[in-house]
Amino acid sequence: MSPSGLLRGACRTTLISLLLVCCLLPPGAQGQKFPLRVEPQNPVLPAGGSFLVNCSTDCPNPKLITLETSLPKKPVGNGLGWAAFQLSSVTSDSQVLCSGFCDGFQMTASSDITVYRFPERVELAPLPRWQPVGENLTLRCQVAGGAPRTNLTVVLLRGEEELSRQPAVGEPAEATVTVLAGRDDHLANFSCRTELDLRSRGLGLFQNSSAPRQLRTFGFWGPILNLSESSASEGTKVTVTCAAGARVQVTLDGVPAAAPGQPAQLQLIATERDDRRNFSCNATLEVDREILHRNRSVQLRVLYGPKIDQAKCPQRLTWKDRTTNVLRCQARGNPDPELHCFQEGSRNEVPVGIPFTVMLNYSGTYSCRAVSSRGTYTVTVVMNVQGRNARAVTIVMVVLVTLGLVTTTAALVYVFGLQKRSDIYQVNQGSTWLPLTSRQPEEAVGEGPS
Ligand SMILES: *[C@@H]1O[C@H](CO)[C@@H](O)[C@H](O)[C@H]1NC(C)=O
Ligand SMILES: *[C@@H]1O[C@H](CO)[C@@H](O)[C@H](O)[C@H]1NC(C)=O
Ligand SMILES: *[C@@H]1O[C@H](CO)[C@@H](O)[C@H](O)[C@H]1NC(C)=O
Ligand SMILES: *[C@@H]1O[C@H](CO)[C@@H](O)[C@H](O)[C@H]1NC(C)=O
Ligand SMILES: *[C@@H]1O[C@H](CO)[C@@H](O)[C@H](O)[C@H]1NC(C)=O
Ligand SMILES: *[C@@H]1O[C@H](CO)[C@@H](O)[C@H](O)[C@H]1NC(C)=O
Ligand SMILES: *[C@@H]1O[C@H](CO)[C@@H](O)[C@H](O)[C@H]1NC(C)=O
Ligand SMILES: *[C@@H]1O[C@H](CO)[C@@H](O)[C@H](O)[C@H]1NC(C)=O
Ligand SMILES: *[C@@H]1O[C@H](CO)[C@@H](O)[C@H](O)[C@H]1NC(C)=O
Ligand SMILES: *[C@@H]1O[C@H](CO)[C@@H](O)[C@H](O)[C@H]1NC(C)=O
Repeated sequence: MSPSGLLRGACRTTLISLLLVCCLLPPGAQGQKFPLRVEPQNPVLPAGGSFLVNCSTDCPNPKLITLETSLPKKPVGNGLGWAAFQLSSVTSDSQVLCSGFCDGFQMTASSDITVYRFPERVELAPLPRWQPVGENLTLRCQVAGGAPRTNLTVVLLRGEEELSRQPAVGEPAEATVTVLAGRDDHLANFSCRTELDLRSRGLGLFQNSSAPRQLRTFGFWGPILNLSESSASEGTKVTVTCAAGARVQVTLDGVPAAAPGQPAQLQLIATERDDRRNFSCNATLEVDREILHRNRSVQLRVLYGPKIDQAKCPQRLTWKDRTTNVLRCQARGNPDPELHCFQEGSRNEVPVGIPFTVMLNYSGTYSCRAVSSRGTYTVTVVMNVQGRNARAVTIVMVVLVTLGLVTTTAALVYVFGLQKRSDIYQVNQGSTWLPLTSRQPEEAVGEGPS
């Protein structure tokens, strides 16, 4: 087939389509003039129920009016321009579609079905057995089921007072609110309620409530644990006091107060060891044959120092030239002292606690000084830096001295021996005027080893 042939074919198809549209439009337009109705329109129904759907039209000669739905349906009647169906087991939201023909033109119409159901469970989580007054209490409500969720609200209540109102979100939905428990909350009833508001859909406001839970509160007024000074100077007197309300027995650091309702007290002269010492107070109260207790703790700070522990700061150090070393020295005190070590004379500083390379000029005496607002404490450190070849020099020196001694000794022994031989010779000659010179080497030999 030639391309022109193809083109001609395409033109013919278009022409036929146009003709079809021209000839069929009038009856179709007429069909559209008579819409299909679905009744009820967008109904809201209780879950599991059944209802009647009526598809109707004013078309004079309608055909094949039917209902499309995923729900079980049963035709219950029809007449001119209508057909009715019974739908059952409506458990979830769905859509139904009516369709039919009017003058050969299809008509359709739909209706959205919304299902509502009450929550299966509305429950307030258990409350603590005893709630301390002045502490936060968290109420937690769980809601299982309930639809449509967009119209479901959770309300948390104290008696009839609304504490919070929240949309139900999640399955199960959880709503929480935190309230500060007060003295008035003792024996108050807390509960939670759901509200399914379908008033805008022509239905009512449906409420479901949880079982109420009664709160029991207890108050201690504390216990209040006090220090006469939270930061005491070393050597000063500190008083620790613990007090609580009437009927409350307090125990301070294990020592009980004389009687319930009485404060417990403790006195001490602050020493360095008391810095950061914790004092704890345990308050107990008997309510309804139940012992309730609560504790508090407080920390004492003692101002002292500065001090340097001799054990934590070696006073004699021997290091080799050009090696890396750390000068370990620690100071303590409150407030924390600053520690610096300076070479006496040069006033050059050496780092403390961090590695550094020593050189011969580091040899010397150092003043390590801890300074804080409470004074100064000094420790003297002697640092001895040895040259790298010191050992080699010592060995050479020893060898040289030994060699020297051996040589001298050998030389003297030789000279002495020569002199002895001369003596004999001279004696044989009968001469007596040389004995003093012959003694000199003898004395030298005697001195040699000393
Ligand atoms: C359905 O609707 C038509 C038209 O409104 C009405 O004549 C007919 O009685 C209805 N059928 C039922 C079963 O309600
Ligand atoms: C109680 O909770 C609120 C926040 O919900 C918080 O601001 C407050 O500090 C809490 N109070 C106590 C005593 O814990
Ligand atoms: C119920 O939900 C519908 C659909 O989301 C919404 O249009 C309507 O405002 C809601 N009514 C109430 C009272 O919340
Ligand atoms: C709470 O409920 C109990 C029993 O239902 C009732 O005896 C009590 O009076 C209620 N408390 C308050 C503060 O209403
Ligand atoms: C919830 O409340 C409705 C009426 O508001 C009631 O018919 C239904 O039984 C209640 N559901 C439960 C689980 O209590
Ligand atoms: C604890 O300290 C507060 C304030 O510093 C003071 O009002 C109170 O009387 C003290 N309580 C005791 C038991 O010392
Ligand atoms: C005191 O208590 C604090 C925290 O409460 C703790 O960090 C500290 O280690 C305690 N101090 C002593 C000396 O036990
Ligand atoms: C406080 O006292 C109660 C009752 O004597 C005891 O059970 C509890 O262990 C104590 N708590 C502390 C922290 O000492
Ligand atoms: C107070 O008691 C509670 C438990 O009763 C415990 O967890 C806490 O560590 C105690 N605190 C002090 C400071 O003793
Ligand atoms: C040693 O000498 C070097 C320079 O050669 C100098 O940087 C250093 O501060 C000196 N150290 C001491 C402790 O004298």
